[in-house]
Amino acid sequence: MLSYRHSFHAGNFADILKHIVLVEALEYLTKKNKPFDYIDSHAGAGLFNLESAHSNKLAEHISGISKLKSKEWPELSQYLDIVNNLNHSSVLRAYPGSPLIAMHFIRPKDNAWLYELHPVDFDLLRKNTRSHKRVKVMCQDGLKGALSHLPPLSRRALVLIDPSYEIKTDYRTVFDTIQTAYKKFSTGIYLLWYPVVDRRKVIELERRFISSGIRDIQRYELGLSPDRSGHGMNSSGMIVINPPWGLFEKMSQLLPKLVATLGLEEGAFSKCDALVGE
Ligand SMILES: C[S@@+](CC[C@H](N)C(=O)[O-])C[C@H]1O[C@@H](n2cnc3c(N)ncnc32)[C@H](O)[C@@H]1O
Repeated sequence: MLSYRHSFHAGNFADILKHIVLVEALEYLTKKNKPFDYIDSHAGAGLFNLESAHSNKLAEHISGISKLKSKEWPELSQYLDIVNNLNHSSVLRAYPGSPLIAMHFIRPKDNAWLYELHPVDFDLLRKNTRSHKRVKVMCQDGLKGALSHLPPLSRRALVLIDPSYEIKTDYRTVFDTIQTAYKKFSTGIYLLWYPVVDRRKVIELERRFISSGIRDIQRYELGLSPDRSGHGMNSSGMIVINPPWGLFEKMSQLLPKLVATLGLEEGAFSKCDALVGE
């Protein structure tokens, strides 16, 4: 039984990193007139009420998205416009999940496949995306679901894999899934989010990617405080396969600025590296 609910965490520092990278990839794909497939293996509810009891319990958005003011972040205008368009004042009351961010870019010729297993979040996801004709939502395992669409008919795809890592084997399963996906479709853009709760697991994941034979892998990480085991999630990262052109340069400038704004203490850090070259 799944217990994780993203509504407790919406708009936190981890969402910021993930959604910035997602926006960059979607923007890149929509520069060309050709259709593409968007596959979100762990979609969540799609939209979050920041005034709900869940959001207020931890209030992670206060130290996250609420700190990014548009006028100070012109380089994030696409992302912040999507957030601000859901809100009618400078006080943020709503935050988009990955599906609503993607809906901002999906055109009539594109396809979006969204998977969510939690029954409550699945119902919310269906409601939150029902006005979008090109979107299919499924209450099924998103990793198997993602593989079923590859290779896509469009020959262009963005796959976001954003699990809750509730199950110990998740780190291994996401890697195995991406490796299989890459064998089926090596030119897709793959975005994998991971939390840093136990650094050893992340190092193991990196090693697997480095020796996988997969080319062109970048890794971005944002840490609000130095690694300390047993203190929950203070950093998280994104592994990006076949990154959009220009992403590395953009992230290498952005990440130190995000650390300066969101970091909680001395030792807050970011990482920006190419794990495997082209
Ligand atoms: C971190 S949240 C997703 C957040 C979302 N991607 C966003 O950026 O707004 C992970 C979601 O995956 C769902 N989930 C967990 N295991 C899953 C699976 N095997 N297939 C599909 N969804 C799953 C959880 O219920 C949860 O809503």
